[in-house]
Amino acid sequence: MKIDVLLGLQWGDEGKGKVVDVLTPRYDVVARFQGGPNAGHTLEFEGKKYVLRSIPSGIFQHGQVNIIGNGVVLDPVLFREEAESLEKSGVDIKHILKISKKAHLIMPTHRLLDAAYEKLKGDAKIGTTGKGIGPTYTDKTSRNGLRIGDTLLDFDNRYAAAKKRHIELLKAITGETPDIAEAEAKWLDAVKYLQQYELIDSEHYVNKLLAQGKSILCEGAQGSLLDVDFGSYPFVTSSNTICAGACTGLGVAPNKIGDVFGIFKAYCTRVGSGPFPTELHDETGKKIRDLGHEYGAVTGRERRCGWVDLVALRYTIMLNGVTQLIMMKSDVLDSFDTIKACVAYDIDGTTTTDFPYSIESNLTPIYKELPGWKTNMTTIKSEDEFPENFKNYIAFLEKELNVPITIVSVGPDREQTIIRK
Ligand code: GDP
Ligand code: IMO
Ligand code: MG
Repeated sequence: MKIDVLLGLQWGDEGKGKVVDVLTPRYDVVARFQGGPNAGHTLEFEGKKYVLRSIPSGIFQHGQVNIIGNGVVLDPVLFREEAESLEKSGVDIKHILKISKKAHLIMPTHRLLDAAYEKLKGDAKIGTTGKGIGPTYTDKTSRNGLRIGDTLLDFDNRYAAAKKRHIELLKAITGETPDIAEAEAKWLDAVKYLQQYELIDSEHYVNKLLAQGKSILCEGAQGSLLDVDFGSYPFVTSSNTICAGACTGLGVAPNKIGDVFGIFKAYCTRVGSGPFPTELHDETGKKIRDLGHEYGAVTGRERRCGWVDLVALRYTIMLNGVTQLIMMKSDVLDSFDTIKACVAYDIDGTTTTDFPYSIESNLTPIYKELPGWKTNMTTIKSEDEFPENFKNYIAFLEKELNVPITIVSVGPDREQTIIRK
């Protein structure tokens, strides 16, 4: 059995949570493989809305096992808040969620370091979510991290050593000794709460499931343009968000990867700093933001909006080996007379369709303009009802991207999803 991966092809917030929830009934298990509470995955069904940060979006379906893999970084306090609110909604989370012992813990001091590093960067700040993601992954790769499995070992000493090091760093950066007493007490309490969950060697668990013929869907967080190696560095997150991250973040071999679902919005958004070639600073950008409710699920920040960028999409499709495309939020463009798609970049007078090393300067997007469909798509139930201009738009994208669009989302609700034949 193979493991399928669903991941974002843009700068995050493509709608991963919604589609993972929709696809979960096809699978036995859903697993997160990277990122942490920087993610905000929104699901809507039966008139209710949920935002998940660390817990996989398969948690609401029919009792499928959900796994937090070793590649994830977990903040016990935020995890507890999220888990308790799910329990209140009637989800039997303690029985269906398993957590890798090798996942790293986000400490209160990691959040302080995140803020301190951002401040040091001044105008060049990344605009992180402030959840301590960068410092936690830095500790992991510099071999200073604290893992969930450590809570079952010599935890007090390991925690004290990590805290001491962070406080020295914070003192050096800010000149002050941080007061973490309150946050620390809450965090230590949440670590105990975490121990009520089944902490597993997820690499063994996942591979045994595959050997037994069970099907697994991996849920990406962030998006490929935020990948630490291939994204718009340094304005990226600190993990490998691309498909290869599912191998390292769960312990599955590359030859076990099956379908790769690449998800994108019919336009494009970005939160935080960094280059965005097709960004719209005009009324059209504002219209997309308003109609698409483009405000961050985690931080509430305004999302920057622009046209879909096919140069970037071809690049991320290549990096991930995407086998099926999923197009989200096309309904947001329902009222537009014309829609633009960036097909190439003009860099200093030279046209390129290859995503370049730097997208920071001297780059002008070259657009193809298509007629809008001017139809309310939100109530459409099958592709037979697609207006002609929408069919043409899909055919155009499939030709440009060379991968079939198999799912089209026309609204935030679980039901507003069209699976194409
Ligand atoms: P994720 O991080 O990739 O899971 O995406 P987010 O949840 O951060 O952002 C996607 C937003 O778009 C959420 O508010 C969803 O409820 C909403 N959404 C998802 N699909 C659609 C769609 O097809 N149409 C509209 N209008 N909204 C959608
Ligand atoms: P989901 O999973 C959109 C962005 C931040 C910032 C950069 C680094 O909901 O799609 P970090 O806190 O990771 O160090 O911030 O990455 N970012 C996201 N943008 N969606 C996300 O997650 C994001 N997670 C991080 O805004 O620019
Ligand atoms: Mg999000």
